[in-house]
Amino acid sequence: MCGIIGIASRTEFPSRVLLERLKRLEYRGYDSYGFYDSRNLKKRVGGIDVEAAGRATTRTGIAHTRWATHGGATERNAHPHVSCDGRVVIVHNGIIENHEEMRKSLEKKGHRFASETDSEVIAHFLEEGLKRKPAEAVIVDFFAAAAGSFAVLAAIKGREEIFALKRDSPLVLGAADGMNILASDIYAFSDATSRAAFFENDEFAVVGAESFRFFDRKGRPIEKAMREFVWDQKESVKRSHKHYMLKEILEEPAAVERMLFSMENDQKAAFDGLIRLIRGSKKIIFAACGTSYHASLLGAYYLHRTGVESQTLIASEFRHYANVDRDTLIIALSQSGETMDVIDALKYARERSGRIAAVVNAPYSTIQRMSELSLHILAGQEVCVASTKAFINQAVLMLRIAREFGFPVDTDNVAGKIRLLFRKKARIREIAERIAASKDAYIIGRGLTYPVAREIALKIKETSYIHAEGMMGGELKHGTIALIEDGTPVLSLVSNNDPDIISNAREVEARGAQVFTITNDGRMERKRNVIHIETGNDGKFGILAAVAGQLIAYYAADKLGRPIDKPRNLAKSVTVK
Ligand code: M6R
Repeated sequence: MCGIIGIASRTEFPSRVLLERLKRLEYRGYDSYGFYDSRNLKKRVGGIDVEAAGRATTRTGIAHTRWATHGGATERNAHPHVSCDGRVVIVHNGIIENHEEMRKSLEKKGHRFASETDSEVIAHFLEEGLKRKPAEAVIVDFFAAAAGSFAVLAAIKGREEIFALKRDSPLVLGAADGMNILASDIYAFSDATSRAAFFENDEFAVVGAESFRFFDRKGRPIEKAMREFVWDQKESVKRSHKHYMLKEILEEPAAVERMLFSMENDQKAAFDGLIRLIRGSKKIIFAACGTSYHASLLGAYYLHRTGVESQTLIASEFRHYANVDRDTLIIALSQSGETMDVIDALKYARERSGRIAAVVNAPYSTIQRMSELSLHILAGQEVCVASTKAFINQAVLMLRIAREFGFPVDTDNVAGKIRLLFRKKARIREIAERIAASKDAYIIGRGLTYPVAREIALKIKETSYIHAEGMMGGELKHGTIALIEDGTPVLSLVSNNDPDIISNAREVEARGAQVFTITNDGRMERKRNVIHIETGNDGKFGILAAVAGQLIAYYAADKLGRPIDKPRNLAKSVTVK
């Protein structure tokens, strides 16, 4: 949540470059944005307009795109924040938990605050300290005084460099030609350099155009190695597609092939290592949030079918439900690799000596670095806030892993089956547009289609704002069926003619529901309310049904004219608890 960027350059560059780079982080939050280029400070509510920078040029600057936590999405609360005397300008991602107490103490010293944010205390704290000490020493004091999470960039009058601080919020430094770029993630600069240094917790750096110095929280210098990273650029361009979401769904077959190939080749050792870790553990607990949680539910289901003791927990509740010891393997699933709730679950597991593995999309992320072993799903950049191709790659990887334990499936033709499904877009669109006419929708599944039902419902909610519930078909009659009215859309996921889910669909139909079906029963293929999936394998059916559901969500949202790639209130990378 929130994206930050800072550039220190050897030569003058147009200030709009700050906003162009910031735009690459806009999926982290888009309530407001702002920048400071050492002369101008501008803030606006809403999505980033690079023209806001005008014709100004600069050699250093910082910028911020906000997902509001403390204080509404107003210009006053937008970053950057400035200290009273204008000497310190900061941008911040994270939450300063003890900001009220810090604010009171600064107010007693005469500081006047201009916003309702927690972040503003950082600017005032630095200004107050600078009255007596050099910036590096004040930052050491800040690490001691502040509680919570922060990635902060600070510009201080009289100093050419940018000061960068990190605790529990992501921050990375990219070394490009003639400039150093600080950012929340590598995507901000992956078109300009493949050399980066990753901040660890409680580290800060003083970053100039051609040099940088890293320190620990006590101000002791530390050596920081630059790493080469690989991040495919081609897939982050929308081209002729109306929305990134559709583009990213259509990339799924290629993404699946790329990942499966990698598991047999460059990631073979890591893949085999994970299989060994699973075999050597008494139990497996997945930890994940949102869409990744639904993929992990599939993982737990597939493994459970092969006799491997496995469960999954929503990461934000992990510590309340997980029983972890040294024989427990925790597998974190995360597209971004930066989700705070997952990081928190892993910390909890680590304290209890659990072993940790990760399945991530973004390389070099915090979650990957916390794990003894990690696999990359290689879905490529997802720009749309709603995750689609990353989910499919996570799910296919879960199936591929389960195959090692005896789950009967050939994963090699999954990509081809997705391509076949794409030929049915017209039918899927027609069904989606009928669902779009309702304010509620229910998606029901059983066994392995239950996680898929939940994922389809989440996609519908996020992109079309239709209230959608994904649930176990068996649970309907225990309460939710009371909500079924004449015409309420119910999408039922029927694998291998499962008689129980068919009965659940009949129960709602008898009460007036408009029932749509995703099925692999060839006899149903021509029926109007049916999307037919060509596979006899139930493991694959779940994944293909999810693709159909993603398309339903997309077409429903498009019909309703929603801002599909950037839904209201959301951010792609959830780095606060
Ligand atoms: O980056 P992660 O996979 O850890 O993110 C988890 C969730 O925040 C994410 O899946 C979220 O639910 C998306 N908006 C789903 O489309």
